[in-house]
Amino acid sequence: MKKQSTAAPSVSKGPTGIVGAMRQELAAVLAIMPDERRQSVGGRDFWLGHWHGHEVVAVLSRIGKVAAATTATALIERFGVRRILFTGVAGGIGEGLRVGDMVVASSFVQHDMDASPLFPRHELPLYGRARLDTDAALSAALTEAARAVLASPAQALGADAVTTFALHAPRLHQGLIASGDRFVATAAESAALRQALPDVLAVEMEGAAVAQVCHDYGVPFAALRTISDRADDAAHVDFMRFIDQVASRYSAAVLERYFQKLTD
Ligand code: ADE
Repeated sequence: MKKQSTAAPSVSKGPTGIVGAMRQELAAVLAIMPDERRQSVGGRDFWLGHWHGHEVVAVLSRIGKVAAATTATALIERFGVRRILFTGVAGGIGEGLRVGDMVVASSFVQHDMDASPLFPRHELPLYGRARLDTDAALSAALTEAARAVLASPAQALGADAVTTFALHAPRLHQGLIASGDRFVATAAESAALRQALPDVLAVEMEGAAVAQVCHDYGVPFAALRTISDRADDAAHVDFMRFIDQVASRYSAAVLERYFQKLTD
């Protein structure tokens, strides 16, 4: 007769998924992971490794909602991630948001979702709502890490970047981020977004898609965005240089602190 094992099955808690939209951001993360190895799925490179002893899978989503949703699905289905963190840049739409500030999302909306008159504008058809909340505990942990980094920006960025980009007392904001398949680059368009979504803080192109996938699978999700521009006619100026010298370094510093403090 076959002997049955009495040992409890080992339950893998799964790694943390880290998603960035831009190559530079992923580079800053990979530079810190001591042991990353690459696995390709769906035309993307997923980097498996550890950060402060915690299992991590880092991946570049590419740009836009479909690319982001595909990436999040692969992280969950193929890599069994237990949570997903998104880091990247966003255009500041809300009043008082300045280049160099950070936003931790409390909820996401797709600003280009419009199945009216069948459903109210922005509502996700058959979900009965327009907005999806991020995970409160995960967002609180990112907020704590971001606050610590913003307390001394020069430590994360170097004094030169602080001077070059005139980052005076950058602040942390929490609230609604809107995602859509458009780079918002006119003052008129960002004014229209503010009118349609009066409490929106920032605009980007991926977060709401990842939020929807994570909602569907019951996977905790949080997102941190550095404001790279004001989503106006000058939105593209210095964009890549800002990501290189500011946003990617902020992301790496915030995640470094997040994993340092992580206990599970
Ligand atoms: N990401 C950074 N800035 C953005 C903008 N202005 N529009 C959309 N996505 C962005």
